[in-house]
This record gives sequence, structure tokens and C-alpha cells, in this order.
Amino acid sequence: MKLRFREDGPIVIDLPEGSRFVLDGVEHTLERPKLALCRCGGSAKKPFCDGTHKRTGFRAPPGRLEVEG
Ligand code: FES
Repeated sequence: MKLRFREDGPIVIDLPEGSRFVLDGVEHTLERPKLALCRCGGSAKKPFCDGTHKRTGFRAPPGRLEVEG
């Protein structure tokens, strides 16, 4: 699994096409093979990014994390 920390933005998780996830007991199928998770704390749709970070001036460095195994 690869996590991308977008500069001044969310954590993006790249997933295989057709991936699904369960949030609070409800299963969802992804329209796009990625999830963008809020790391600024300002999203009204937590845990997902809703673009609020652009308006609040959130600053954070870019980065990548790869998990194997
Ligand atoms: S990182 Fe986008 S709303 Fe928080």
C-alpha cells in the first residue's frame, strides 16, 4: 500500500480498481481507485478531505509512505 502526503493537503491512498471500504459499518464502493484522507483537521466530511485545507491555509510537507507485507 502506498500513501502520498500531498503538500499542504490530504493523505492519498492509491487502491486497486473496484476497491471497497467499510465506514461505520456501511460498505462503500469507490468511484475512483483512491481515498483522500484529511490531515488538516478542518474537513466537514472526516475522515475524508473536502478541500477545506485550501481555504484555511494548511501547511504541511509532501511525502510518501510505502507499506509492504
Ligand atoms: S486535508 Fe483537505 S480538508 Fe483537511
